[in-house]
Amino acid sequence: MSIRTLDDLLAEGVSGRRVLVRADLNVPLDKQSGAISDDGRIRAVLPTLGALVEAGAKVVVCSHLGRPKGAPDPQFSLSPVAERLGELLGAPVHFATDTVGDSARSTVADLADGQVALLENLRFNAGETSKDEAERGAFADQLAAFGDAYVDDAFGAVHRKHASVFDVPARLPHVAGRLVLREVEVLSTLTADPERPYVVVLGGSKVSDKLAVIEALLPTVDRLLIGGGMCFTFLKAQGLEVGTSLLEKDMVETCRNLLERSNGKIMLPVDVVVADAFAPDAAHDTVRVDGIPSHRLGLDVGPETVAGFSAALSSAKTIFWNGPMGVFEMPAFAAGTRGIAEAITKADAFSVVGGGDSAAAVRALGLDESSFGHISTGGGASLEYLEGKTLPGIAALEN
Ligand code: 3PG
Ligand code: MG
Repeated sequence: MSIRTLDDLLAEGVSGRRVLVRADLNVPLDKQSGAISDDGRIRAVLPTLGALVEAGAKVVVCSHLGRPKGAPDPQFSLSPVAERLGELLGAPVHFATDTVGDSARSTVADLADGQVALLENLRFNAGETSKDEAERGAFADQLAAFGDAYVDDAFGAVHRKHASVFDVPARLPHVAGRLVLREVEVLSTLTADPERPYVVVLGGSKVSDKLAVIEALLPTVDRLLIGGGMCFTFLKAQGLEVGTSLLEKDMVETCRNLLERSNGKIMLPVDVVVADAFAPDAAHDTVRVDGIPSHRLGLDVGPETVAGFSAALSSAKTIFWNGPMGVFEMPAFAAGTRGIAEAITKADAFSVVGGGDSAAAVRALGLDESSFGHISTGGGASLEYLEGKTLPGIAALEN
C-alpha cells in the first residue's frame, strides 16, 4: 500500500508538533441515561493516541457522533466520550465545547507536549458533511489550522466524503493510524486471496443496505448465510409468507434474481422465532419458515438454522460476519446471534467481524473478543471495502 503510516510520522519526530487525529468515536449511547453503552471504538484508537502522547505530540482529536444536522445538538455532544477517553488514557482529555471556534482555538493553543484535546462533534458544522466542495473546503481549512500533521484513524468513517476525512488530508502531511492500517490489511486479505472455504454470514435489518455487497461477494465466496431481519425479503422471494416480519417489498424481485444466480451458495433460515409483537416480553414460538402465521413477526433465526449455519461454518477457513441474526438486544431473541457467534469462534478459521452492530453484539453477549481474528470498527466502511468501492478516506491518504 502506497500510504504513509504513523510509524513514518513518528520516525520524523512529533515532539512539540500538533497532530490532528481523525477518530471514529461514534459510540452507542444508552437511550435513557445517555451513558456510553459500548466503548469499543474508543479503545480501538488508543494504540495510535498512546504512541503520539508518548512521542510528545500535542494531540488534537476530532470525531463525529450520531447524525446531528450541521448545528450544535446537546444529545450528540462528545463530552462523555472525552471523559471516557481520559479514563482509558490515564490522563485528562482537554475538551473543546466547539469544533473550530474560540473554545477549540484556545484549547489547542494551551496544549502542552504529550497532552490530548478532543474537539466537539464535527457534524455540529454544516461544512463537515456538505456536498458543496467549497463549503467543505472552508471547514477543512479551519480544522487543518489545528495540526502540523494529520492522522486518519477513523476507519468507521473512511467511506464518507466528509471534510475531516477527505479534505483535511489534502491540506496537511497525512498518514494512516494503527487502526486504519490494521483494518485495511485484514480486509484486503479477504478480497485478495481468502483461504477456502470462505463463508460469509450476513444479517441485520435492511436488504437494501446489503445488496451491493451480496452482488460483489457472490462470485468470491463459497457460502453466503443470510439471517437477521433481511432474511424475510429473501424468504418472500422464495414464495413463502412472512407474516408481519420486516419486508422490503420493492426488493423481493432483486432477491429472487440473486437466489437464481447464486448457484446454491446462498443459505437461508429453515426455522425462525416468531413473536406477537416487537417487544422483549412478547409471546413467541419457533416455527418452520413455511409456517409463519400471518399475524406474527420473525425476530430471530431458529435452532435448526443455527445448527445448519454452524455446520457450514465449521469447515470454513475464512469467515466474514456482518449483522446480527435477530434482535439480540432482547434476550428472548438473542439465541440465533449467540449461536452463530459461537460457531464462528469454534471454527478453525480466520474470522472477521464487521460492523458496529455485530461488534457490539459480540461484547454485549459476553463473548471473548480474542477468539475472533479481527473485530472491525467499521460497518458501512467494511462492507464498502468488500464491495471494491473506492473509499474517499483511503484515497485521500494515497495521494
Ligand atoms: C458508523 O457508525 O457507521 C460510522 O461512525 C459512520 O457514521 P455514519 O453512518 O453516520 O456516517
Ligand atoms: Mg453507518
